[in-house]
Amino acid sequence: MAEIRFNEKTMEFHLQNDRISYILGVLENGQLGHLYFGKKIRHRDSFQHLIQMRTLSHTAYVYENDYLFSLDTIRQEYPSYGTTDFREPAYQIEQENGSRITGFCYQRHRIYPGKESLKGLPATYAEGNGDAVTLEIVMVDALIQAELTLQYTIYENYDAICRSARFTNCGKQKWKLMRAMSLSVDFYDSDFEMLQLDGAWSRERHITKRHLAKGIQSISSARGASSSNHNPFFVLKRPATTEFQGEAYGFCLVYSGNFLAQVEVDHYDTARISMGINPFAFSWMLQQGESFQTPEAVMVYSENGLNGMSQHFHNLFNQRLVQKRWRNQERPVLLNNWEATYFNFNEEKILEIAGKAKELGVELFVLDDGWFGKRDDAASSLGDWFSDRDKLPEGVEGLSWKIADMGLQFGLWFEPEMVNPVSKLYEEYEEWVIRTPGRSMSYGRNQFVLDFSNPEVVDHIYRQMEAVLENSKISYIKWDMNRNITEAYGASLEAERQGEFFHRYILGVYQLYEKLLTKFPDILFESCASGGARFDAGMLYYAPQCWASDDTDAAERIKIQYGTSLAYPISSIGAHVSAVPNHQIGRSTSLSFRAHVACFGAFGYELDPKQLTESEQEEIKEQIRFFKRYRKLIQFGDFYRLKDPFENQGNAAWMVVSQDRRTAILGYYKILAAPNPKLKKLRLEGLDPKCRYRCSRAGETYFGDELMNFGFLPDMEFTGATARSFRVTRQNSGSDKGDFTSQLYVLESCE
Ligand code: DGJ
Repeated sequence: MAEIRFNEKTMEFHLQNDRISYILGVLENGQLGHLYFGKKIRHRDSFQHLIQMRTLSHTAYVYENDYLFSLDTIRQEYPSYGTTDFREPAYQIEQENGSRITGFCYQRHRIYPGKESLKGLPATYAEGNGDAVTLEIVMVDALIQAELTLQYTIYENYDAICRSARFTNCGKQKWKLMRAMSLSVDFYDSDFEMLQLDGAWSRERHITKRHLAKGIQSISSARGASSSNHNPFFVLKRPATTEFQGEAYGFCLVYSGNFLAQVEVDHYDTARISMGINPFAFSWMLQQGESFQTPEAVMVYSENGLNGMSQHFHNLFNQRLVQKRWRNQERPVLLNNWEATYFNFNEEKILEIAGKAKELGVELFVLDDGWFGKRDDAASSLGDWFSDRDKLPEGVEGLSWKIADMGLQFGLWFEPEMVNPVSKLYEEYEEWVIRTPGRSMSYGRNQFVLDFSNPEVVDHIYRQMEAVLENSKISYIKWDMNRNITEAYGASLEAERQGEFFHRYILGVYQLYEKLLTKFPDILFESCASGGARFDAGMLYYAPQCWASDDTDAAERIKIQYGTSLAYPISSIGAHVSAVPNHQIGRSTSLSFRAHVACFGAFGYELDPKQLTESEQEEIKEQIRFFKRYRKLIQFGDFYRLKDPFENQGNAAWMVVSQDRRTAILGYYKILAAPNPKLKKLRLEGLDPKCRYRCSRAGETYFGDELMNFGFLPDMEFTGATARSFRVTRQNSGSDKGDFTSQLYVLESCE
């Protein structure tokens, strides 16, 4: 059961479900102290003994002659700077006299079942009253009559605390928020390793690990998007924590714009965690009666290692973040024409590809870039969202109905936030491009970014998209975004509001999603940004799946998908089989290897099916049959990472287990063949120890406890030329020869 208990005497709040506790309280100066976050502890009337103070005559303290009470040492929730705390604060308010010193004190609180939505922002939601309970604490700065409302939600079934903050100006003077984190929390110690998801185009979300050190360690983005460079997510785990054992805390921001996530380790080795909108290039002016709502941040605790943490995120995001329409909804097997044709297609070619795709078992055909304006390459037409009648004589509208007649769903690519200088939109509305007056503009993919901080621009693009969607049969949209914002400036914003630009931009993006989903609630969105440069929980709220990377090479994808799975569910990871040699890195791998990797995701193909040989077509038909049979399990089962490609020369293994533990699929991947390799054994996870499972390899059976305690023996490589002369009789030897090989094993309960 999820509940929030309030100790009236000691002014403490205890958020708990059956597994976790989060405790905070009002300190004697009216600010909030952090007391505990972790495995559930029993409730008691007072948690004051969890506050540790030390006598400090050599630093600043709050009360005269009270050497004990200094914010320099007391663990806090949402701290301020400059009133005895010298670390980086959760917020800063610049007032009319230029001061940034504030004094927010507890005023009131409210505990209520459920969870309210955050206006204009993506956020997790609650379902019915028993599902979650929320605490709202209102703090007041009497001098400037400012209100700060801190929101905390705990769920019954997900081991997460969802937090955000709202500032309201109730006074007469206007002031500027210079920093407004979504969460801040002080951990008692810093004996943690920090895991983050870093990368670049084509190698997104690789795992980086470091031990916390004194000072500030941070990840951030100032690109206008969450970025492929750092993901708005990180983990703090104990050094001994493994995938399946030990403590791990995960922090994830439900936001797609500039962010900062940092840990500051201080002189007493406490660790201050902050996460929110990047304060760099941010400010927000509030006049009387106005409010500012921060995005939401999700904190997860697991005592069952990294995998336990990931499963909490997966379940929460699958069940309480993605649109209800797509909750537990199997995602269609798609074929995207991008790598098949790039810009070079016409209706005939597309219909041929779609026809072939249908024969193979594909359910959704996606027409990528190039269908609009006069878009024959990347140099023109973004912003002109009407069909190129030379390529598509009956428009995308006519094409969509023809595809529907084939029994296929139809999906379409847009890049709504962009414009090419060579376009009708630019001719008419050049002033809508983001640029700083009097300064030269930077370039990227021949395109400029539209000023989505201006609602007029968002509305115009919406109307263009609406016209296409209204007249076509479209069930899916791939929303791309291929360049970062430079020369940031909002032409419709006053000078003193320029610091609001980046956040207003992303609110504009959310607004467009909101409008489209309101009018076309059944459309499945897949977000994309030069591959996976905006793969974040903010996007997942609107678009339940995200194109994980432009790198479709299966060997590279293992790392990308493995890293992504730390936070994001398998159902959200757009993953396709593409042609070889691979278009990004030139590597050739077998069709089965490519499918074995891609099928752990929102599965599809990105190739010209007309180029396939008969036997390849048969193989693909079989892959799709297999995938459809197990799709629910793969996309919504419990996912377990078994072998880490970042530590095993790219070799990896993972598995999914159905909720009833009767079916499991194991994926095992080898990058480079080795001569005379060591024996291999994989200890499986999540099975029913008493259940007898039949393995798809040769129908042999194993008990769950054997598979989890002793392990599973995957097929071994040939160990040398002489081995060929022996007939291989044992089931787990001899079939795994060569580089880039893989095996999928299905384990099904015999009972
Ligand atoms: C970048 C995307 O990541 C690709 O999948 C493709 O849609 C291209 N853009 C089209 O321009």
